[in-house]
Amino acid sequence: MKTLVTGGAGFIGSNLVRRLLADGHEVSVFDDLSTGNLSNIEGLDARFIEGSILEQRDLDAAMTGVEVVFHQAALPSVPRSLANPALSNQINLGGTLQVLLAARDAGVRRLIYAASSSAYGDTTELPKTESMAPNPASPYAVAKLGGEYYCRAFSRSFQLPTIALRYFNVFGPYQDPEGGYAAVVPSFITSVLRGESPTIYGDGDQTRDFTYIDNVVEANLLAMLAPDSVAGEVLNIACGERISVNELLALVVSSVGRDGGEVRPIHAPARVGDVRDSLADVSRARRLLGYNPLVDHAAGIRRTVQWYQDEGRLVGDPPEDATQEGV
Ligand SMILES: NC(=O)c1ccc[n+]([C@@H]2O[C@H](COP(=O)([O-])OP(=O)(O)OC[C@H]3O[C@@H](n4cnc5c(N)ncnc54)[C@H](O)[C@@H]3O)[C@@H](O)[C@H]2O)c1
Repeated sequence: MKTLVTGGAGFIGSNLVRRLLADGHEVSVFDDLSTGNLSNIEGLDARFIEGSILEQRDLDAAMTGVEVVFHQAALPSVPRSLANPALSNQINLGGTLQVLLAARDAGVRRLIYAASSSAYGDTTELPKTESMAPNPASPYAVAKLGGEYYCRAFSRSFQLPTIALRYFNVFGPYQDPEGGYAAVVPSFITSVLRGESPTIYGDGDQTRDFTYIDNVVEANLLAMLAPDSVAGEVLNIACGERISVNELLALVVSSVGRDGGEVRPIHAPARVGDVRDSLADVSRARRLLGYNPLVDHAAGIRRTVQWYQDEGRLVGDPPEDATQEGV
């Protein structure tokens, strides 16, 4: 299949590109390298197009002959959207509309959209099912949810079949461990490997459905091959289990081979926009895509720690800050 991955130089995108190539698909990567990195796709047999999803002309050129688009490009993270809501809206909502328009005009056969569990907001009801009313609590969540609505509208109005996959707290190899917007898993791994104190926001008893990257990549492949009747759907993609942030840290510490007593976390106040608990019901994706989480969070953490150790990517200063928000 001839595929295009927007945001293909980022964490999730680059993992997806690897799998698509391994499965024999032709892959183009479209990325402006704002949060992604060329080193993530170095040496891969994919065509790289440097461009922004805000530039219709660049997108139109990139879509020629493409059959399936995986739209991963975004300005991720809740805190980033709190710092600049207008930019988050422009890229995450406006950019998604531009990608959909280019895909429609190029006659693309299917578009798979990287949606976000942040659409649920801080609902107390668990697990979170797709039939629940969305309750976005941050500019990022609003923009990502708006993207879902646009996808559904394009399925219905313009015969461009779309499927939105609502990812829950994805982690794994190639996730950026550096900087103020690093996610909690690479941030913890970085701190523990460097012998630094990891920062926990709040009491650490908040829970998340941490999802290993291979599960997310598998879901995208299943969505590509699903029957047309699945078009217009929004589906949770997660592990279907939750652990607390404190338990996550304990897992990281034991995977690194350190003694828990040696690692003393710093507790900082809970952050604006962080939800208390998150857990997905994945039965809809199971039913419609045949999705089954392949790797649980414990095995996923072990593999991720191993990857950071093998790659030796953790050099330089520890991150100043990190988010525990599911993006
Ligand atoms: N990581 C998670 O836990 C998670 C959870 C839910 C949803 N998502 C969604 O998954 C997707 C991938 O996220 P990620 O974690 O891999 O983040 P990432 O920052 O690693 O990847 C995003 C990619 O998009 C590119 N990009 C940003 N703005 C662009 C623009 N204007 N034009 C072209 N490319 C642009 C970046 O350079 C980067 O390569 C995003 O859509 C995100 O909203 C991620």
